[in-house]
Amino acid sequence: MSMSCFNLDMLFKPALRLGLALKGVQDYVCYQPAVPDKKEHIGSKSDIPSVAMPMFAPPSTEADLQKMRQLIADDVPFLIQWPEDHPVIPAEKSQAVEAYLHKTLAEDGYKDDDEFLIVKFEKWHENYGELDKFVQGILPRLRHPRLNWPLWFLGNYSTSGPHVDAMFGSVNVYYMAHGSKYVKILTRAATERLPVHYKDDYLFPLDSSEIPKYPSYEGVLKENSVLVFSNSACLHIFENLPGPKPRALSLRLKYTGKVHPLIIETAMCSWDYVEHVTKLIRNAATKGKLLRTNFVK
Ligand SMILES: [Fe+2]
Repeated sequence: MSMSCFNLDMLFKPALRLGLALKGVQDYVCYQPAVPDKKEHIGSKSDIPSVAMPMFAPPSTEADLQKMRQLIADDVPFLIQWPEDHPVIPAEKSQAVEAYLHKTLAEDGYKDDDEFLIVKFEKWHENYGELDKFVQGILPRLRHPRLNWPLWFLGNYSTSGPHVDAMFGSVNVYYMAHGSKYVKILTRAATERLPVHYKDDYLFPLDSSEIPKYPSYEGVLKENSVLVFSNSACLHIFENLPGPKPRALSLRLKYTGKVHPLIIETAMCSWDYVEHVTKLIRNAATKGKLLRTNFVK
C-alpha cells in the first residue's frame, strides 16, 4: 500500500464516518417504515391487487407522449411494443454486444452458459437512434438525460433478485433487444412501506417472502419492446423467460424526485457507496467495460 493510500484510509475514512455519525447517518442501515399502515398491507396472496402494466403502440402524437409523461409522473410502469420488423435500435448493435461478450468470456476462461449476470458498460453518449428519439419525446426538457452509462444486461442468469436501484432520481428506459422477461414492479407507496436494507448500489428487501403481500404491476417484456419505470423509487424484479438468451439495454435517465427515502437519507451519504461506485468506474475504465457478478442468480 502506498503512503497516500495509507493516509486516505487512516485519516479520511474515520473523518467521514465521524461526520456521518454526527449527522445521524450510518453505513449499514435497514429501512423500516416509521408507521406501517396495516390497512394498506394485504393479508393473503389471493387478495393482492397486482395489475397488468399498461401497454402501448409506439407514440405517434403529442397526446400519446403526454399520456406517457403522466404515467412517469405517477410512477406507473408501462410497456411499448414496437413491430417485429422495426427494431428500436439497429440489430447489429445488439449482435455486436453478444459477439463482444462471447469473445471476452472466452478470453477470461468462461463459457457462454456459465451462470453470471453480466453488465456491459457502453459509452455514456452512445447513439441509439430511435430509442434516443423516444427518450427525447417523453423527457423533452432534458438536453443530456442520462444519469450514467447505458448498461447492457447479459449472460446466463435467471433473475437479478428484487431490488431498488440506489441512485439519484431516475427513470429507467429498458429495451429488450433479444429474448423476453417477466417483470414485477411494486407501486411506489408499497416500496416505501416495505422494510429494506442497503448494500452496494441497491436496496434489498429484508424479507423477500413478504413481496407478494404488496400491490404491484406485472408484465412480460417481449423482444423489441421498451419498459419505462421509476427504478430508484419502485422495487423491481426481472426474471428471464425460457427461449433466446436475453439481451437488454438499460438507460437510466434524470427525473428529480423519484428516489426512495433511504437512498437520499443514507445510502448515497455512505462511504461504502463511494467505494462501490469508485470500483465500478475503475472497472468500466480499465477492464474492458464488463462487470461480471454472481451475487444473484
Ligand atoms: Fe434495477
